[in-house]
Amino acid sequence: MPSTNKTDIDSRLQHFYKERSCLWKLLTGLFLFLLTVWSYVENERKKQPSPSFLSWHRVERQNSSNSSSPTGINSEESQIQISSFYSEFGISLDAYSRLQQAVYWPEPDRSITDVSMSTSPAHTTFIIENLKESYQIGEELFVTVHAKNFENKSKSYGGDFFQAKLFWSVTKASVFGEVVDLLNGSYSVRFLLPWDGEAQVAVRLIHSSEAVQVLKRHRDTDSDRVYFNGYYEGPGPNKTRLRETMTCNVKWDKNGLERMGTGDCCCEYNDPRTQETWRCKRPKSLPCSALVYHSMGGYRNRLTSEEKMLITCHFATQTTTKCLKDKHIYMMGDSTTRQWFEFFVKAVPNLKQMNLHVQYQSGPLIAVDVENNIYLHWRAHGVPLRTLKTAVADLHYISNEIDDQAGGPHTVFIINLGPHFTTYPLDFYTHRVLRIRKAVLALLQRAPDTTVIIKTVNTGYKDIFGSDWYSLQLNRVLHWAFQDVGVYILDVWQMTACHYSKENIHPGPVIIKNEIDILLSFICPD
Ligand SMILES: *[C@@H]1O[C@H](CO)[C@@H](O)[C@H](O)[C@H]1NC(C)=O
Ligand SMILES: *[C@@H]1O[C@H](CO)[C@@H](O)[C@H](O)[C@H]1NC(C)=O
Ligand SMILES: *[C@@H]1O[C@H](CO)[C@@H](O)[C@H](O)[C@H]1NC(C)=O
Ligand SMILES: *[C@@H]1O[C@H](CO)[C@@H](O)[C@H](O)[C@H]1NC(C)=O
Ligand SMILES: *[C@@H]1O[C@H](CO)[C@@H](O)[C@H](O)[C@H]1NC(C)=O
Repeated sequence: MPSTNKTDIDSRLQHFYKERSCLWKLLTGLFLFLLTVWSYVENERKKQPSPSFLSWHRVERQNSSNSSSPTGINSEESQIQISSFYSEFGISLDAYSRLQQAVYWPEPDRSITDVSMSTSPAHTTFIIENLKESYQIGEELFVTVHAKNFENKSKSYGGDFFQAKLFWSVTKASVFGEVVDLLNGSYSVRFLLPWDGEAQVAVRLIHSSEAVQVLKRHRDTDSDRVYFNGYYEGPGPNKTRLRETMTCNVKWDKNGLERMGTGDCCCEYNDPRTQETWRCKRPKSLPCSALVYHSMGGYRNRLTSEEKMLITCHFATQTTTKCLKDKHIYMMGDSTTRQWFEFFVKAVPNLKQMNLHVQYQSGPLIAVDVENNIYLHWRAHGVPLRTLKTAVADLHYISNEIDDQAGGPHTVFIINLGPHFTTYPLDFYTHRVLRIRKAVLALLQRAPDTTVIIKTVNTGYKDIFGSDWYSLQLNRVLHWAFQDVGVYILDVWQMTACHYSKENIHPGPVIIKNEIDILLSFICPD
């Protein structure tokens, strides 16, 4: 492997590192990074020395919780949750424990009393098992990662969040490795070797197990770290118009959301169909019914992003038009599906976007191609939604929208949700997803030939408001909820997790194109 390639990768990492350092200051220093490079050549192998790397950290002492059982279904609280899963969604105790297993994440088996106990990317190493001179395409490659702490001592418990990729920067090819936590400080990574030629292995420590605990704790206690505004408007004295802006959020009786207050503090908006309640501080002079607009309020901290991915085949524009002909494509979700909307508007020649005079960030957005009878629709999912000021009445829950559509062979639903839910307890998201599942099941019952595509959450967030660890957990919920429903799951995780392009919560054009290619293969399988 020519050394220039290694240099290139190093400098890219330097760049990531810069972004990162300004962002984790408030949280922990446990965000660390590991890269070791190895190359294999068909006939000739040279071992590269590990590049030095960038460790930067700050201390946050934390109490480790010593309670949670792997299935987490023993507490009274959980029992209540489970009975609602059962009575409302028909999810059995067995299915629920499978979910708990899927989202289970190992944690330190002791109290973390000093940051030096956390995993140090500088001391952590990996080795390639049974390294050979050359490999065949399709062969497996195993890598073992040994985690060590800042005192250079081997770690004896698991829970570190590693990402591993096999890549070759010359051809911009990369694949994601499957990391298995051996729970004793070692991790096994499996790669399938998919191409001819050279490759490098990179293993990144995304979060140490200690940092994961911090993320988890914030998710479970600190859900108001993203908050929202409700804009009240109504007639005042002397023909004036009164305006009040109040703080709003999901109603949930713990995780910090209870801090908004109790009883008379707030206006509550219960959706009779989803049974979800949205809550705003009660305005001083206007009634609760005067709520007109919604927007993101703010973060009680800071946020940034980054990311990557993979290559597949490409559809030409001709094919895109043909594939979409006579289709009503109904996309609901967040800005990552809005990127798809934008892609289609650009890629399909006759598809013209209309101006509906709405807040662009939340929609609804519409584009039509009258000649080919294509109707493309995007709207944001219901609250919680981090958006600029938008009309509350335009924010619809996905399950309600599905309930209100006939469906049929010309209808394609594309659904995604995740990043706006990272600050809430997992059960809140699970409820939301199960409600959508229920609506999809009913849809497929009345119109079995409807196409439904679920897009998973991509990588890209690396902070306390949204981390890849949160997203990974949300994806496990999505996979669990939709595995037996007869929908397509477009798993963008891998695509966004190991691409060569700069990390970003909003993937670059190459990634969008690749995602759309897969999407089209679902809509037009032949
Ligand atoms: C750790 O937990 C104990 C008992 O729950 C509590 O009294 C203490 O304040 C906690 N320490 C920190 C730093 O949170
Ligand atoms: C775990 O916490 C409980 C109290 O919640 C305490 O009684 C117990 O000793 C703790 N166990 C360990 C191993 O720290
Ligand atoms: C950490 O320990 C290993 C042996 O276990 C040693 O080879 C290595 O040099 C040590 N690293 C540092 C930075 O001290
Ligand atoms: C960790 O566990 C794996 C599987 O149980 C075992 O093969 C390995 O030797 C263990 N590693 C250490 C360092 O104990
Ligand atoms: C209404 O407007 C009139 C004239 O502008 C003013 O004199 C009066 O004080 C106002 N009343 C109130 C309640 O503001």
